[in-house]
Amino acid sequence: MKGCASGNGPGAIAPDGSSVDLYARLPTWGEPELVHRALPPAASILELGCGAGRMTGPLVRLGHPVTAVDESPEMLARIPYTVTVRSTIEELRLPGRFDAVLLASHLINDPDRRLRVRWLTTGRRHLADGGSLLLQRLDPSWFDTPRPAYVYQDGLEIVLVEVRRPTSRQVAATIRYRLEGLVWYHRFTVERVDDADLDELLALAGLRRTEFVSADRTWVRADPLDHVGTDVPDGGAAGKSDFAATPTG
Ligand SMILES: C[S@@+](CC[C@H](N)C(=O)[O-])C[C@H]1O[C@@H](n2cnc3c(N)ncnc32)[C@H](O)[C@@H]1O
Repeated sequence: MKGCASGNGPGAIAPDGSSVDLYARLPTWGEPELVHRALPPAASILELGCGAGRMTGPLVRLGHPVTAVDESPEMLARIPYTVTVRSTIEELRLPGRFDAVLLASHLINDPDRRLRVRWLTTGRRHLADGGSLLLQRLDPSWFDTPRPAYVYQDGLEIVLVEVRRPTSRQVAATIRYRLEGLVWYHRFTVERVDDADLDELLALAGLRRTEFVSADRTWVRADPLDHVGTDVPDGGAAGKSDFAATPTG
């Protein structure tokens, strides 16, 4: 358990409450393709909070060298096919730089604002010249009327069973996942990140929002403040990462 997050169910549970067995089974919903379209071909990616590789595998298959970072060794053990690094995002210091840094899964909505800035700073620190940070946030309007919800798709049942408002900007929720006869619970708290909040957080980390990469404005591209406006060279920033792989373990 970490902060106000926890989880339970079969198999190992990461400190943020995410179930390893669940995340190893969850499908993607177009995220790897969206990231792929937003980047130059074969752009190297540093994936922060990669989990069990739900997005990592598809991104590797789409031609991206991915360095996958997570604090949970059990999560990383599910990703034997690419470079993995066991570290917290906030403490990560790799010698290499990457064409893109990925901060997905609404990590930017963590209620700890200082941690969010540290995560963005990690992203900035690992960007190659011409590189971009891609992040995924929750739709700010969801915080207006969060309520219990039910989703069923291909045998996967996701139910938002409990919703509280610790503050006007935060939602504390419990999600129940049911899949293949197994049940997991994940309790977490998230905080609203509006455009203005996002721009402030990014600026504190030396970054600037340059575009929304999804129509619903939940996926955001941010570039280093000192590189905004500079053209990406021909062929993009692909292949510039010079990080010599240090597999976990
Ligand atoms: C909700 S899961 C999502 C995993 C993956 N991004 C996906 O889409 O399937 C969040 C992951 O981030 C990791 N995580 C959360 N906070 C972290 C931190 N401070 N440092 C490193 N990993 C972290 C957790 O261990 C977990 O594997």
